[in-house]
Amino acid sequence: MKYMITGAAGFIGSNLARQLLSEDAEVVAVDCFRDYYPPELKRANIADLLKNPSFKLCEEDLSGKNMSWLDRAFDASEEILVYHLAAQPGVRKSWGEEFYQYTTDNIISTQNLLEWSLKRGNVKNFIYASSSSVYGRVADLPMVEDMTLPVPDSPYGVTKLAAENLVRLYTRNFGLPSVSLRFFTVYGPGQRPDMAFSIFLEAIRTGNPLRIFGDGSQKRDFTYVGDVVRGLRLSEKCTDGRVMNLGGGNTLPLLEAIGTLEEAAGKKAKLLFMPVQPGDVRDTCASTELLFKTTGWKPSTPLLEGLRRQILETENRQN
Ligand SMILES: NC(=O)c1ccc[n+]([C@@H]2O[C@H](COP(=O)([O-])OP(=O)(O)OC[C@H]3O[C@@H](n4cnc5c(N)ncnc54)[C@H](O)[C@@H]3O)[C@@H](O)[C@H]2O)c1
Repeated sequence: MKYMITGAAGFIGSNLARQLLSEDAEVVAVDCFRDYYPPELKRANIADLLKNPSFKLCEEDLSGKNMSWLDRAFDASEEILVYHLAAQPGVRKSWGEEFYQYTTDNIISTQNLLEWSLKRGNVKNFIYASSSSVYGRVADLPMVEDMTLPVPDSPYGVTKLAAENLVRLYTRNFGLPSVSLRFFTVYGPGQRPDMAFSIFLEAIRTGNPLRIFGDGSQKRDFTYVGDVVRGLRLSEKCTDGRVMNLGGGNTLPLLEAIGTLEEAAGKKAKLLFMPVQPGDVRDTCASTELLFKTTGWKPSTPLLEGLRRQILETENRQN
């Protein structure tokens, strides 16, 4: 069996690929190096992986109609396990003109890949990277998967929910094996530069103030990337189209998380409070009971430990 990872040069995809290669798996990596953040960082994410002959990079755009390049990446009878992580991420940029890119990369690309998987016939599972952003503002925490109607608060969340629904449709109507995992604020080595801890670490390093949107009491469920990778691998056997939260069990107010970051970095931060941004959800907190019951997965990385690993990796890249 071969693995396909879309978005393989990104933050989570490159961590997943590294894990699979360490288990001697063969990986077909798809990424078109979008410039949402500097593509050089994505190239750096996979620089070590490219040296491994079991890692084959297809530098292609999943939103195009012609997918023949993907056919050529596999032998005809080969079984394939698809990890679909490619997306245009980020809540704040998803308003206005930018929305076009979100519909293209998050909805059209997903539908293209679903059609390809169906025609291919030997896709053993289609594992979709969904997001806590599908929930929007919820009155009662924790967020539970069977809340009848998730109502996203951002255009990004709308596209992630649309794609999640497409995946479910292909399972229900055509029997395509699938599972969707809703990730909650992932951090760790290789974290995207637009995400809070990366921005905060850079601010601490350069002595600039940390910009906090809101009063800092908003809660986030921080998930270590290694725990996400383990949750994804454990979910491979789940093929009935279910949707599960993958949240890290490190739910705490942002200001407390910054305190942990200061401890990990060994430096104090200057804080600058800014107005809340449109699309930002106030609190997130995952119920992970369903994932635990289905796979036995539990998060295992405390925030302090995960942040220390992120800082170490960032320093190694800078040197
Ligand atoms: N990082 C998080 O905290 C988080 C939280 C919830 C959900 N997610 C989801 O997890 C997945 C991975 O997120 P990430 O943080 O690693 O993002 P990322 O931006 O680092 O990685 C996504 C990759 O997909 C690629 N891509 C985008 N559109 C493409 C297309 N049309 N064809 C080929 N490649 C394309 C990009 O070039 C990028 O390298 C995404 O689906 C995201 O929505 C992430």
